[in-house]
Amino acid sequence: MAASLNQLPGVGPTTADKLLEAGFDSYQALAVASPGELSNTIDIGERTATDIIQAAREAADVGDFESGTALRKQRDQIGKLSLLIDEIDELLGGGIETQSITEFYGKFGSGKSQLTHHLCLTVQLPEDYGGFHGRAVFLDTEDTFRPERIDNMVRGLPDEVIEATMTDRGIAGDAADEAALDELVSHVLERIHVAKGFNSSHQMLLTEKALDLTGEYTDTAWPVRLVCVDSLIAHFRAEYVGRGNLAERQQKLNKHLHDLMRLASLKNVAVVVTNQVAANPEAFFGDPTHPIGGHILGHSSTVRIYLRKSKGDKRIVRLVDAPSLPEGEAVMRITESGLKPD
Ligand code: GTP
Ligand code: MG
Repeated sequence: MAASLNQLPGVGPTTADKLLEAGFDSYQALAVASPGELSNTIDIGERTATDIIQAAREAADVGDFESGTALRKQRDQIGKLSLLIDEIDELLGGGIETQSITEFYGKFGSGKSQLTHHLCLTVQLPEDYGGFHGRAVFLDTEDTFRPERIDNMVRGLPDEVIEATMTDRGIAGDAADEAALDELVSHVLERIHVAKGFNSSHQMLLTEKALDLTGEYTDTAWPVRLVCVDSLIAHFRAEYVGRGNLAERQQKLNKHLHDLMRLASLKNVAVVVTNQVAANPEAFFGDPTHPIGGHILGHSSTVRIYLRKSKGDKRIVRLVDAPSLPEGEAVMRITESGLKPD
């Protein structure tokens, strides 16, 4: 690929390497970049960046108006990832969509991290069981990822699903066979790529790495089909404190979301992010159920889902904002063996 980026006018070997390193691994990726973003990322002048993007657009044959047919073709590839909880799948019109960002927001303990764990498992299930037969990337910014929890969740799947999944992976045995279950758990954990983000810049860098990783597995039997960011906002919130830093925070967050959106649409991946609800509603938007992040986040995440605690292990899942779905609610339970229907 470096060789072909090299063929763009104005791109020498050094620039080509920098582009690759920054995750611009195709004409298409370059074509949708903004000059400001590109010039900042690889440290070139904005004029040069504009020229490179223009050349990439011509080479990639994008950036013009797309026909309805072409758009339809891309939309036809949108997959819907099942949660294995019928009521929620129905609420979401079939499941969590690829090519877009889905945001789960809610208070502490509402189940955001549990949901991201759960999806790292369901994305791996065979298509007959609502999965993508794909792997997951987990950007862990709060040190919440727990392999033991995945272990519980695998063992907690219905026997039929366990056995279909074993067959799918060439694991001999059944749901009562401990050795086969152990093998299945390892197989599943092997396909969850976890990276811990130590601060917001690191988190953004990891997003670029996630794009690389996704590229590496694109044409393999187990492509990356899910990228989770848990939590999206925590670092940004901690680092950019106070009104004076709000604009800069939003700008960075905007770039981060832009990168995630690009990953989602270029690689046909489902991106799932979590977001805390402000503890002090006054400090933000006056609505206690409003997620942190402000307007930019509101526009970028295509589907927003509000989680709230109910009695005991029950959680209410509320679809708040989706382009083509009615609002509504569903219920799930967080049990020892994972997320279950009510
Ligand atoms: P914050 O990250 O603090 O904002 O919360 P969150 O929304 O990510 O909450 P999380 O997904 O961590 O949900 C926590 C809830 O899940 C807890 O209140 C527990 O009730 C439940 N939970 C987590 N792990 C287990 C487990 O191993 N077994 C059972 N039965 N419940 C669990
Ligand atoms: Mg959490």
